[in-house]
Amino acid sequence: MSPQPAIDDMNTIVSLAKRRGFVFPASEIYGGIGSTWDYGPLGVELKRNVRDAWWRAMVQERDDVVGLDSAIIQSPLVWEASGHVAGFTDPLVECRSCHRRQRADHIADDTCPDCGATGQFTDPRQFNLMFKTFMGPVEDEAAIAYLRPETAQGIFTNFDNVRSTMRKKLPFGIAQTGKSFRNEITPGNFIFRTREFEQMEMEYFVRPQDGFTSLDYWREERMRWYTGLGLDPSRLRFRQHDADELAHYAAAVYDIEYLFPIGWSELEGIAYRGDFDLRQHQEHSGRKLEYFDDERQERFLPHVVEPASGVDRCLLAFLVDAYVEEEVRDETRAVLKLHRDLAPYKVAVLPLSRNEKLVPKAREVYDIVRARWVSDYDDSQSIGRRYRRQDEIGTPYCVTIDFQTVEEDDAVTVRDRDTMEQTRVPIAGLRSLLEDRLTG
Ligand code: GAP
Repeated sequence: MSPQPAIDDMNTIVSLAKRRGFVFPASEIYGGIGSTWDYGPLGVELKRNVRDAWWRAMVQERDDVVGLDSAIIQSPLVWEASGHVAGFTDPLVECRSCHRRQRADHIADDTCPDCGATGQFTDPRQFNLMFKTFMGPVEDEAAIAYLRPETAQGIFTNFDNVRSTMRKKLPFGIAQTGKSFRNEITPGNFIFRTREFEQMEMEYFVRPQDGFTSLDYWREERMRWYTGLGLDPSRLRFRQHDADELAHYAAAVYDIEYLFPIGWSELEGIAYRGDFDLRQHQEHSGRKLEYFDDERQERFLPHVVEPASGVDRCLLAFLVDAYVEEEVRDETRAVLKLHRDLAPYKVAVLPLSRNEKLVPKAREVYDIVRARWVSDYDDSQSIGRRYRRQDEIGTPYCVTIDFQTVEEDDAVTVRDRDTMEQTRVPIAGLRSLLEDRLTG
């Protein structure tokens, strides 16, 4: 049977995200700004967890990769050298009927996807996707600057700084996460394609002869990262770029695609960039960026393999894939079965009621768990409703304080989100039980 998306309709997640404080439309009180989104209290936790999981796998747990945080605004010469000023374009056409603009390569049958008019498109022209701004008080040609369209170039321009200060030998990588900006002609599908987004990119520098082996290694490594964080392997695949769709810098590219409700779409690109970037920066800046291999007494420009992903797009895939509706005692419960490392709250502390005996004990328990994990405290409405609320935002464990806790055993009930099993545990042993379950 061919794989199916986890949910049929993106709106299920868009509405949950809004209702439960993950993602809000930006500038909503002014009517919105179109395909621009703000992350709410739960979204910001989830986003941080995605970024942290990436950083842990790509930097913290490796000997051969170090981090960087380069500026969003770089010298415009960087973007000339990288090829973005001349070549970072999409073909744009305008519908003469409704005047909406479309990407020419996304049009089927010469029909406008907005108004349905046929044969009304202008000839395509190349549209540069970089956002332009001005540095300083004078708005003239000399003051033009760009918001970075990828984080990668800040890594290339710092290649020699990082290599020399960290005394790195090939192969080694430089990783960074951060905002990038592209004036996309047709943004949309919620946070899938936006004009402002956050990337997670790593440039891995290797000897030229090791390029393709490294590409294979990083493909497998990155696929393992997604499945390790719970994405269903049947909804993930590799897609190799055809020669005619390769980016200007790439010798070979594999996308990791996920089966979103909109169909198979790119989650991450893994590109073999050869020595394109270091060579361009060396030529344009006049600074030598070669590497001296003292074992072999050779001087050369390293080649680069780049796994490049997006925080927002990953977050969307994790949300979509985790969403489940289940029948429990004739009721439908919606659960986000997020991996424990990604769940915004790890634990929710719930006194059975707002009774004056229960609340102080519950606050005591809350202080114990929140010293270690981002957690929630909720004492409103029935316990059943509170469980459902926590299920819907993906909280792996709920800890309930009842009269037995305060009157008899100083123990609490720990409820598992996925199995709904309940375990009674003394408060003195709670932290170690949660530690085992959340990190063991
Ligand atoms: N440095 C290479 C590079 O930027 P890319 O395939 O254009 O490659 C890498 O981008 C990743 O960044 C994509 O796989 C996607 O996850 C994310 N991304 C790119 N454009 C995006 C957009 N407009 N909105 C959201 N995420 C985007």
